[in-house]
Amino acid sequence: MRTDGDIAIVGAGYVGLTSAACFCEMGHRVRLVEVNPHRVSQIRAGTCPIYEQGLPELLRRHVGDRLAVYDDLAAATAGARAIFVCVGTPPRASGAPDLGALSGLLSELARLDLDDTVVVLKSTVPPGTNRMVYEALGKQVPVVSNPEFLREGTAVWDFFHPDRVVVGSPDAEAALGVAGLYAGVDAPLLVTGWEEAELIKYATNSFLAIKISFANEMAALCEALGAEAPDVLKGLGLDHRVGAQFLRPGPGYGGSCLPKDIKGLAWRARRAGVKLDLLAAAERANARVRVRLLEKLSRELGGLAGVTVAVWGLAFKAGTDDLRGAASGDLVPRLLEAGARVRAYDPAAGENFAALFPLEEHPGLMIAGDQWEALHGADALLILTEWDAFAAPPLEIRRHLGGRVVVDSRNLLDPDQAASVGLVYRGTGRGRLGRG
Ligand code: UDX
Ligand code: UDX
Repeated sequence: MRTDGDIAIVGAGYVGLTSAACFCEMGHRVRLVEVNPHRVSQIRAGTCPIYEQGLPELLRRHVGDRLAVYDDLAAATAGARAIFVCVGTPPRASGAPDLGALSGLLSELARLDLDDTVVVLKSTVPPGTNRMVYEALGKQVPVVSNPEFLREGTAVWDFFHPDRVVVGSPDAEAALGVAGLYAGVDAPLLVTGWEEAELIKYATNSFLAIKISFANEMAALCEALGAEAPDVLKGLGLDHRVGAQFLRPGPGYGGSCLPKDIKGLAWRARRAGVKLDLLAAAERANARVRVRLLEKLSRELGGLAGVTVAVWGLAFKAGTDDLRGAASGDLVPRLLEAGARVRAYDPAAGENFAALFPLEEHPGLMIAGDQWEALHGADALLILTEWDAFAAPPLEIRRHLGGRVVVDSRNLLDPDQAASVGLVYRGTGRGRLGRG
């Protein structure tokens, strides 16, 4: 692969936009091409279309200089040394990743002169897709799999501090050329075949989902046994073979990736005649976490019909405005269906939630302007997202909340402090304190 020339990136989503900005920060010149004209104009105007820490600053620094924004694929890719594909691959109902955007892009790329360039698939695609792309391009263009491991909310940091750089291709020169773009990033380099690189991505996200589900199941068991899940999971995580990361119990994993990728891997395995039992079990466990949360709330309130529930947190995790796979998208409709009224607040995702659940179609729902307004007149508080502001003093909560019940799915509050001000506190896995 050439060592000079611009990098082209197709798709200005969470992955493409972050990658473009970070490659510029590394000194590369990037041509970012995006099919959505509104998004093109936003970025050209220096506006960051997604909520991502550190990204607005990088865009302000590089847009119009190292970062050029295009709406035309041919112009953006002409003469580029590499073309990164970062189009979305959302899940179908079957669990199969929807490769419609990719195949549409492929038919456009096939019509272009791709001489002396490399096509790099950064989008998460099922094993076998890179091989398919190589064949679809007439086996004339080197194709390299370069999966990303960016977490929303920390994507910029993650880009510069990956645990590993993975490049997969039978064309070692092309693979090493892509790896060379990450010069300056201090991380182990793994050069593999196509399918291995594709599988590393799916295996990573699927394992993280399994690990979170295991933590959630241990928390449920702790509630039944009268044990403290924080102690159990800390002890588990201290085993260096397990590791403490991704053992925090919560309302079940969400996001645009873990739910999608565990389904995508199960689907691809089924197509290969292999049944992956652990993946299905993790998905079932994840759904059960949310049912248990509603049961806990209903038990403390004596039923959900006619009650008012304040919900702190709509985004699938703190640090993002993304609702994809969020527990709120699961639980709020169920609360409304059960006849409860919901007063919801999220520091970043409130508007997105109102767009997803138009208030005129959901009369029982209101989006509060701040976390305290959400509590006014509410019989209970349900905490779903671990925003720092929600680790609020229990006395403040007691003063604003109409009722006394707090169900804290993220264990943000201190159970004894909450009880001491008269709250009926239920955390996650707080079995010894009888507050699970
Ligand atoms: C990315 C990866 O693509 C996905 O495989 C991975 O699992 C998660 O991260 P994401 O960046 O979240 O997905 O995708 P999305 O937010 O949907 O952005 C994709 C962008 O590509 C959109 O802005 C879309 O308009 C754009 N696009 C799509 C193009 O510019 N051209 C196309 O042909 C298709
Ligand atoms: C994930 C992967 O971490 C990232 O490597 C991949 O590229 C994209 O998918 P993301 O979905 O942004 O990133 O968020 P992540 O931090 O992984 O959290 C995923 C979900 O798991 C969230 O709902 C989060 O709240 C939940 N989670 C995470 C837990 O419930 N407990 C934990 O200990 C960690």
